[in-house]
Amino acid sequence: MGSIYIPYGTTEGQTARIAEFIGDVIQAHGHQARVADIKQAGDSIPPGCDAVLVGASVHMGTHEEYVQDFVRKNRETLERLPSALFSVSLAAHGDAENAESYVREFEEQTGWRPAHVALFGGALLYTHYGFIKRLIMKKIAGDKGSLDTDTSRDYVYTEWDGVKRFAEDFLATL
Ligand SMILES: Cc1cc2nc3c(=O)[nH]c(=O)nc-3n(C[C@H](O)[C@H](O)[C@H](O)COP(=O)(O)O)c2cc1C
Repeated sequence: MGSIYIPYGTTEGQTARIAEFIGDVIQAHGHQARVADIKQAGDSIPPGCDAVLVGASVHMGTHEEYVQDFVRKNRETLERLPSALFSVSLAAHGDAENAESYVREFEEQTGWRPAHVALFGGALLYTHYGFIKRLIMKKIAGDKGSLDTDTSRDYVYTEWDGVKRFAEDFLATL
């Protein structure tokens, strides 16, 4: 049985949901999973972890700065242990080229080149956004064409089967 640490950054909560889901999959396979919001847990990797899965979401073309700080600080540990990155964005839903470019920028900014990278579609949580954010996101969604624009409801583009597969494939590499 291994102990897997899942630190993540989130702005509207979708990456937190994905991290918890990954934690559940890992536990269902008989391992220990510790899911941690980096904002609260701080920027250290607890001793005794056998592997680390880092999650972050994209806003205005970049992943959370505090996740980048976390990765820079823990780069040696991430390189020594089996580790992976999961990146959550709207681009991951239908615009893989952009989603990949966010990860490339993350790698350049942090110096960490994760052996495993997953790109997960995020969510449009119109009913949770304030007025301005709702307008901006509706405009972006409309311009993209592949996203939804009815602001009276929320849309989740995360493909949970793919998240499960990612977690299981990662476990298989340990
Ligand atoms: C203000 C704002 C800006 C965003 N900018 C981008 C972007 O540049 N590229 C992208 O692919 N997704 C973008 N998104 C979509 C988020 O990545 C998506 O909503 C994701 O689910 C957020 O994850 P979180 O809830 O864990 O923060 C943006 C979302 C918001 C609200």
